[in-house]
Amino acid sequence: MRNLLNQCRGAVIAAASFSCLVASTATLAADNERFGYGSPATAEQIAGWDIDVRADGQGLPPGEGSVEDGEWLYEEKCALCHGSFGESVGGYPALAGGEGSLTDPRPKKTVGSYWRYTSTLWDYIHRAMPFTQPESLSDDEVYAITAYVLHLNDIVDYDFVLTRDNLTDVHLPNENNFIPDQRPDTRNKRCMKRCKDPADVKVASEAAAYIPEGGPDALYSEAEALDDGLVTTVTGGGVYERHCALCHAEGIGGAPMLGDAGAWAGRIEQGVDVLYRHAIEGYTGEDGIMPPKGGFVNLPDNEVSLAVDYIVEQSQ
Ligand code: HEC
Ligand code: HEC
Repeated sequence: MRNLLNQCRGAVIAAASFSCLVASTATLAADNERFGYGSPATAEQIAGWDIDVRADGQGLPPGEGSVEDGEWLYEEKCALCHGSFGESVGGYPALAGGEGSLTDPRPKKTVGSYWRYTSTLWDYIHRAMPFTQPESLSDDEVYAITAYVLHLNDIVDYDFVLTRDNLTDVHLPNENNFIPDQRPDTRNKRCMKRCKDPADVKVASEAAAYIPEGGPDALYSEAEALDDGLVTTVTGGGVYERHCALCHAEGIGGAPMLGDAGAWAGRIEQGVDVLYRHAIEGYTGEDGIMPPKGGFVNLPDNEVSLAVDYIVEQSQ
C-alpha cells in the first residue's frame, strides 16, 4: 500500500492523477488475492439469494398450480394461522375480506382489499411462508397456494390454474389506488457550520397520529422543562401522545380509540389494575394485539400506568 501511495503522490505531482486512479483499481483486485480472504460469489450462491419476483413477472420460475391443489395445501400448511377462509386465527393476518374498508377507522388490509400485485403474493409465500418453515414449498406448490388465496378473495374461479405465463394477467382489485408520495424524505438542509448544539435540538414527528392538540411543541414541553434545568413532570397525556397514540388515536390494529366510551366501557369495568397489567405485560383480545408497553419496552411501568389513567379519564 505504501508503494501505491508513493506512486500516486508522484503521479499527482506529475499531473497524471487519472492514470494513478486506474492503477490503484487494478492493484485492488490483486490485493484481494494477496490478503487471502473473501471469494467471489458463485453463480449458484447468487441464484439462492436472487429470488425476488417483480410486478412484471420477472423472476418467476416455470411452474403451475391449480386452485383445487392449493385448497389442500393451504388447509394443511396455512389454515391453522390464517383460517380456512383466510379470515385469520388468533391474531395472525387475515388474507381475505375487508373489501371497501380502507377508508374505515379500522381498515382491514388483506390481499384482496389492499395488496397491489399478484407477484407480491407469490413472492411473499415463496420466501416467507409457512411462517415456521420459510422456503420449504416447491414452486408448483407456491403457484397452487397463491391461486387458492386469490380464490378466497373471489379473484379467480375454482377451476383456475395459475402459471408463470398468466400470473401477471391476474389483477388485484386495489392495484390502481396506489399513488406516488411526492413529499421529500427530509426538508432540512444539513448544517455544515455554526450549527446548534445537538443537545438543544428537538426532534418532532409530523406523522398525524403523533401530533397532539396544540401542535408538536405541546409534546415537548417536558424537554423544555429539562432544558431549563427543572425536574420534568411526566404526564399521562404526554406518555400517551408519544407511545400510545400511534395506535389508540386512530384505532390502528384494532386498538380501542381514545374517547370512544363504548369501546372502553367494558374494559374499564375490569378495574384499573387489570388495565395496567394488560398495558404493561401486553394482551391479546378479540380486537387485536396490545404489545407490552405498546412496544416501547424501555418505558417505566409507572409511566405506562399514567398513560392508562389518562386514557381512562378521556374515554369515560
Ligand atoms: C404459524 C403461523 C403461520 C402459518 C402456518 C402461516 N403463516 Fe402466513 N403469516 C404468519 C405471520 C405471523 C405473518 C405476519 C408476518 C409479518 O408481518 O412479518 C404472516 C403473513 C402472511 C402473509 C402476508 C399478510 C399481510 O397482509 O401482510 C401472507 C400472504 C401469508 N402469511 C400467507 C401464508 C400462506 C400461504 C401460508 C401457508 C403456506 C402461511 N401464510 C402459513 C403466520 C403464519
Ligand atoms: C401497536 C399498537 C398499540 C400501541 C402502540 C398501544 N396499544 Fe394499547 N391496545 C392495542 C390494541 C390492538 C388493543 C386491543 C386489544 C384487544 O382487546 O383485542 C389495546 C388495548 C389496550 C388497553 C385495554 C386492555 C384491556 O384489558 O381491554 C389498554 C389499557 C391499553 N391498550 C393501553 C395502552 C397504553 C397505555 C399504550 C401506550 C403506552 C398503548 N396501549 C399502546 C394496541 C396498541
